[in-house]
Amino acid sequence: MRGRRGENRARAVGGRAVCRSHRRLALGLFRTRPHRTLLEHALSHGVTDVDVATTYHHGQVHKLLAQAAGELLDRFTISTKVSSQARLPTLAEQAKRAAGDLGRAPAVILVHNPEHLLRDLDHDQACRWWTATAETMSGLVTSGMCRSWGVACWDPRPVRDLLGTPAWTQAPQPSVAMVRAGLLVPADVLTASEELLQRIPHTAGRWGMSPFAGAPHLLDDINLAPFLTEDAPQAAAPLPTALAVAFHLPGVSRIAIGTVSPTHLDQLATARTWPVNQQRLSAYRRKLMARAGSAR
Ligand SMILES: NC(=O)c1ccc[n+]([C@@H]2O[C@H](COP(=O)([O-])OP(=O)(O)OC[C@H]3O[C@@H](n4cnc5c(N)ncnc54)[C@H](OP(=O)(O)O)[C@@H]3O)[C@@H](O)[C@H]2O)c1
Repeated sequence: MRGRRGENRARAVGGRAVCRSHRRLALGLFRTRPHRTLLEHALSHGVTDVDVATTYHHGQVHKLLAQAAGELLDRFTISTKVSSQARLPTLAEQAKRAAGDLGRAPAVILVHNPEHLLRDLDHDQACRWWTATAETMSGLVTSGMCRSWGVACWDPRPVRDLLGTPAWTQAPQPSVAMVRAGLLVPADVLTASEELLQRIPHTAGRWGMSPFAGAPHLLDDINLAPFLTEDAPQAAAPLPTALAVAFHLPGVSRIAIGTVSPTHLDQLATARTWPVNQQRLSAYRRKLMARAGSAR
């Protein structure tokens, strides 16, 4: 049975809830090659955010996006990512190349998966790396390479370990964090994500990604309707429902999704504002956390 209480009257769980009308989708181009028709379709649904990274499509994604979008590019808000992988140029050089390939500065530049590097550093090295990285990223904003900067983590636990240190608190602060969102996020990743998101001052800078973990078949035959309130459509399909729920796990204002299908994009754009049953969500979180505790 669906929950009786409307989402906006219910107590938010797992961090601050984001007003339904403020939830946004971003078209993520990790798996999806940019196509003009898909970009036009996104705009027609009010999806004006595009998420890319220096490493997507063999380093060519910014050029491909600019070619596919043409004059439409100005209507999109682009977030991209730079990475500290050894084989790549410096963060500043990657940012410059992204702007050159796009023909304009992206709105937001994120440090991409810093956990990969942090796992191989001891604590002091990790602190020094973060201080230098935050200063570089802040310098990109000052020099007009982007409007704001942030961090995107598939697994934010190594970053979470820095949050209380002077290396974090005394360094320039990111205004965006992007983390995994949805029912498939493991409990310890969810907890670390929420700790990271709490450091982001404005809800508009708390972002999610990959609501189906790139594996929609894991969810597409499960009855997820009880996660919605009675105000939601009666015959809601599982994946759009999972997207609505993902805005609460953890509480985020924007989610990057991957699709090549205009029909799927329609479904997700509609589901963005569906009201979620907070009691059901609380019960799910309790089970998830209990399971994580018993697995240790
Ligand atoms: N570390 C990072 O920074 C990082 C990591 C991962 C992802 N991301 C960002 O997040 C974006 C999305 O990630 P993702 O592609 O891994 O994950 P996802 O959005 O969880 O999953 C994409 C898959 O879901 C399917 N799908 C979407 N809507 C559907 C619907 N309504 N019904 C049935 N299937 C549906 C898509 O198939 P169809 O194409 O057939 O619709 C595709 O196979 C990426 O492009 C990237 O921008 C960032």
